[in-house]
Amino acid sequence: MSDKKDMSRRDFLLYAIGGWAAVGAGATLYAMYKTWEPLPEVKAAGVVEFDLSLVKPGEIRVIEWRRKPVFILRRTPEMKAGCPKRTVRTSLGDFTIVIGICTHLGCIPNWESDKNIWHCPCHGGEYDACGRNIFGPPPRPLEIPPFKLNGNIIVLGEEGPEYKAMIG
Ligand code: FES
Repeated sequence: MSDKKDMSRRDFLLYAIGGWAAVGAGATLYAMYKTWEPLPEVKAAGVVEFDLSLVKPGEIRVIEWRRKPVFILRRTPEMKAGCPKRTVRTSLGDFTIVIGICTHLGCIPNWESDKNIWHCPCHGGEYDACGRNIFGPPPRPLEIPPFKLNGNIIVLGEEGPEYKAMIG
């Protein structure tokens, strides 16, 4: 009889400890999940909107997206870019929109408006008004960030049909 009592008490204790361990493990996993999941403000920071009508013809603006500079160049007809797959067409005209990080070793190129090129100060790489590498060590054109257009508002961080057509 006392053996039976001891058994049931021991079983109860084992179940109780097991239950608490399971609850503890579940709470730990939930806490880890909450740690891995980006905070709402971090998620929101992945998308940036910009009104392209703020850029005058021939002007360049630099905005920050995901901690990277993005160059927004409103082209002029004199730029004769000739790069349909690297052109963001809007009712305002054509734009070049590229990530402003040199594809050689990651410096930030400067826009030289007298030559209509980006010049990289680190090793002399050059990119044309479309962001194509035209001189020096850069191995690739400047990268185009994912974007979509809402009229003349560009939304960086979302892939719209215009972006998909450019990279396709
Ligand atoms: S980092 Fe731009 S040319 Fe080397």
